[in-house]
Amino acid sequence: MTPFDYDYLRGILKQRSGLDLSADKQYLVESRLVPLARKAGLAGIPELVQKMKGGGAEALTTEVVEAMTTNETFFFRDKVPFDHLRDTILPALLQSRASRRTLRIWSAACSTGQEPYSIAMCLKEKAAQLAGWRIEIVGTDLSQEVLEKSRAGIYSQFEVQRGLPIQLLVKYFAQIGELWQLNPDIRAMVQYRQLNLLQDFSGLGRFDVVFCRNVLIYFDQETTVNIFERIASVIEPDGMLMLGAAESVVGITNAFRPYPDKRGLYQPNPERGGARTPLRVVAAR
Ligand SMILES: C[S@@+](CC[C@H](N)C(=O)[O-])C[C@H]1O[C@@H](n2cnc3c(N)ncnc32)[C@H](O)[C@@H]1O
Repeated sequence: MTPFDYDYLRGILKQRSGLDLSADKQYLVESRLVPLARKAGLAGIPELVQKMKGGGAEALTTEVVEAMTTNETFFFRDKVPFDHLRDTILPALLQSRASRRTLRIWSAACSTGQEPYSIAMCLKEKAAQLAGWRIEIVGTDLSQEVLEKSRAGIYSQFEVQRGLPIQLLVKYFAQIGELWQLNPDIRAMVQYRQLNLLQDFSGLGRFDVVFCRNVLIYFDQETTVNIFERIASVIEPDGMLMLGAAESVVGITNAFRPYPDKRGLYQPNPERGGARTPLRVVAAR
């Protein structure tokens, strides 16, 4: 791949998904895109780039963008966020939402569904306290492919062995040959939608809790700040934002402030007096 091909691909990825590749990630691009090029009947990356530059290659460009996303995830990833959900977030919301009895949770960049389903299982474990509540969990991702897997809720032995307590496997999954499928009642708790975080997401409505984990690490600071600002505009003033272990708002935005003593958990900053609207979305096609 020539430096020009690499720069072209970097530009497309930044524009379409926010992925901010440094100048030395050619190996990553090659390892992901050479197989894709071959599958498309092309000799290699130069031919792939040429085809993308020509007209009518929208589907191929989408495939390139999706191939470059990192979809690594697993059930109850990092454990602590789900402890926070069970021990801090849910008790607070059970109290504050007692009269309206609704709860809306968004798993932004949900990949293959393990995060929203972990949230669903946490809530199911609190079924007695949540009886009569209207619960909505929304899982979104840029990639249609991961969303298809999410909707099916079917996982390999390897995937259910990563992070999922055995009691929950037995309780909420059915074995199908060598695979495991989440029971329909857990699957029905999550609605999936394709959504690019660079684009307007105000149409999703307002949320009490947002999990936005292990995706902002791939973006540059300007994009990250923009997404934080727009999450602040869809989260309730007493809602909570859960970030990944390597992500933080500190020193980046004052739209949120850390929840005391709970690593990774944030709340909208009341001193900001709510979101400033309208908010500009990052350009993405
Ligand atoms: C590493 S996974 C994180 C999954 C899950 N949140 C977790 O922490 O386990 C990152 C996900 O972000 C998605 N993604 C990347 N760029 C995105 C964008 N611009 N908008 C929405 N999703 C995006 C990818 O498709 C991928 O599934």
